[in-house]
Parts: sequence; C-alpha cells; structure tokens
Amino acid sequence: MTDQTKDRVLIFDTTLRDGEQSPGATMSHAEKLEIAGMLDEMGVDIIEAGFPIASIGDFEAVKAIAEQTERATICGLARANTKDIDRCWEAVRHAKSPRIHTFIGTSPLHRAIPDLTQDQMADRIHETVTHARNLCDNVQWSPMDATRTEWDYLKRVVEIAINAGATTINIPDTVGYTAPVESADLIRRLIAEIDGAEDIVFATHCHNDLGMATANSLAAVEGGARQIECTINGLGERAGNTALEEVVMALRVRGDIMPYRTSIDTTKIINISRKVATVSGFPVQYNKAIVGKNAFAHESGIHQDGMLKNAETFEIMRPEDIGLKETNLVLGKHSGRAALRAKLKDLGFDLADNQLSDIFVRFKALADRKKEVYDDDLEALMRDQSGSD
Ligand code: KIV
Ligand code: ZN
Repeated sequence: MTDQTKDRVLIFDTTLRDGEQSPGATMSHAEKLEIAGMLDEMGVDIIEAGFPIASIGDFEAVKAIAEQTERATICGLARANTKDIDRCWEAVRHAKSPRIHTFIGTSPLHRAIPDLTQDQMADRIHETVTHARNLCDNVQWSPMDATRTEWDYLKRVVEIAINAGATTINIPDTVGYTAPVESADLIRRLIAEIDGAEDIVFATHCHNDLGMATANSLAAVEGGARQIECTINGLGERAGNTALEEVVMALRVRGDIMPYRTSIDTTKIINISRKVATVSGFPVQYNKAIVGKNAFAHESGIHQDGMLKNAETFEIMRPEDIGLKETNLVLGKHSGRAALRAKLKDLGFDLADNQLSDIFVRFKALADRKKEVYDDDLEALMRDQSGSD
C-alpha cells in the first residue's frame, strides 16, 4: 500500500447485483441505467452492475452500464467456471475500466455443494482466476462464506488467488455471522501472513443478519481493508448488505478516530436513497440511520428547543450533508412553546407571549387527538383564535 492509498477507502456499490438479489427487488433495464448513472455521479469507485450469466436481461444491463459509465470501474460477477467468466468479460469489456469478479464458496458447508475436496477446489480457484486474469487486468476474487472457512484453508486459497493474478481479494461475511473484533482480526492476519498481500486491495463484504454489517465493515477497515462493499439503503438478501450511506457518513463524521477518506459526494445520498426505494419497492424504515424519514426529525420539546438554539445539541450531521434542505421539527404532543412559536413565525404569525400561551393550550389539546399537527391545522387554530378575540 502506498502512502497515498493508506487512508483511502474504495466504495464498491453492489445495489444492482447483491441488492437486486433481494426477493422482489427486481429493477428494469432503464431503472438500472439510471441508478448506475447516479452512483457514478456521486463518486462510487466500483459499480457491480450485475451477474451477466444469470439472464439475457442481466447481461444487457451490465453491458449497457459498461458502455455508458464515465468514471467508475464496472464490475460483473461470475462463478468459478470459464463459461461464467467469459460471459462476464463480454458484458464488461467495453467499460473504460472493466473488472471481473469471480467467487466460490470455501467454507465446509459450501464446499459440500459442488462436492469438491480442498485440493480440487484449490485447483479450480487457480484455473479460474488465471483465466479471468488472461482476459482482464482487474480481477477480484471472493471466497464466499469466508468468515466460516477454516483459517488454514482460507489463507491457502487467498494465496492461490493472489498468485494466479487477483488484484482485489474480497472477504465476504456471506451470512452476517462475524463480529467487529473478528472482522478486523481476520483481515489483519491475512495481510500479515500472506506474502505479497501488501500489494493487493483487501475488501470487506458484510451482510446484516445480526445488524452488525456497518460495524463489521468499519472494523475490517481498521484491520487493513481498503474497499467496502455496500448497497444503497442496505438493500440485499435477507437482512441486507452494509448500507453505503452508513459507512460513508460514519467515516465522515468520525474521521477523528477513523481517519479514512472516500470519494463520495454525500450531498447526493438522499436522492439516490429515494430512487432506490422507489424502483426496488423496498421502502426505507422511518428510523433508518442517515436516510430514514425520522433521521433528521425532532418532536420532543426539549430536543426542539435545543435544536432551535444550536443544531449540534441533537444532531451530529447537518441535513445538508446528505442533501436534505433542513431538519424537520415535527409538531406533536411532545412539542414545546419554542417550536410552536418558531413554526407560527414561519407561517407569518409573530405572537406576543400572552397570545402564544392561549394558542399553546389549544395546540396541546389538538395534539392529544392527532399524531402530528400540520401547517393547515395551525392556520385553522389561528383563524379560530382571531374569530374568538
Ligand atoms: O455475500 C456474498 O458472499 C456474495 C459473494 C458473491 C461475494 O455476495
Ligand atoms: Zn453478498
């Protein structure tokens, strides 16, 4: 690793491949192209555009994305056989910067499926990575279910892939099984114990089955990984993948203890989050970190009062950092006078203290009946108030 790359973390987005594998999240050709364009614009380093052998539609989408993309590396996924790898190369070869990503399941459970011995699998890895590298200079290799693979075997197959020409080694936590301490140690140990590992980019690819994907990805970076694989909104099979917006904002907000740079323009986050939610049909939960509807909303009086005096009291990021216009002070039964006064002022009503006290009593009565009090409700209250004066 050179000094220039030591603190730079590559963002590899797999919304269009692993994200789309989420049951029911299928996207159309046009939607995929639009999302790829948005990912490129926001500064994603590598876009995994699909799994070309999976269907004609997937092949066409990866090929079109490869042809249209201005800046990012375009990657396609291939299993460990020459037919998959050739098809993948056909789809990505016209990209300005193409990558082949080939993988095989290396844990005992996954080795049992093709019924290969450790030696037979090792030979397969050597042959397929060599084949991919003869086609393309940029080859990523993944031992699927790496975090449940025996250490000695994992080390052996990673070495084989590097010697066969892999330029990126991805260590997938396929079933979201690892934990932060282990995630960091695994990468650290691979880099320390494998000859030539310092010239390779190690990647982390975490699933969220135990809700630890973001923590595990950041821990892997501490261990030496310099590529995070992730998806917008954490879309992906079962509980999803690491959420791009979470790792990127965590590195931005906590640069003091995690001094790593990404190339992401974070102000593009909210738009792409909404686009992916719409086209995938997977709505974002209200309290989702960074992009949930409530991530920058406050209802309680104490919080609203603090926010009106100094936004840093209850927000560690500014809404503008992710492309939102402003914080949302929601008026409800927990809200206090300060927020009501500020909202009424926005609506053009500058009230004296005694007027505010009257309207505040009526506002609280209304808020007890309604979940949220909207601008129209306040205007109606003000009309009633002036009628009764
Ligand atoms: O989760 C996983 O192991 C994968 C591989 C194909 C990289 O998505
Ligand atoms: Zn995955």
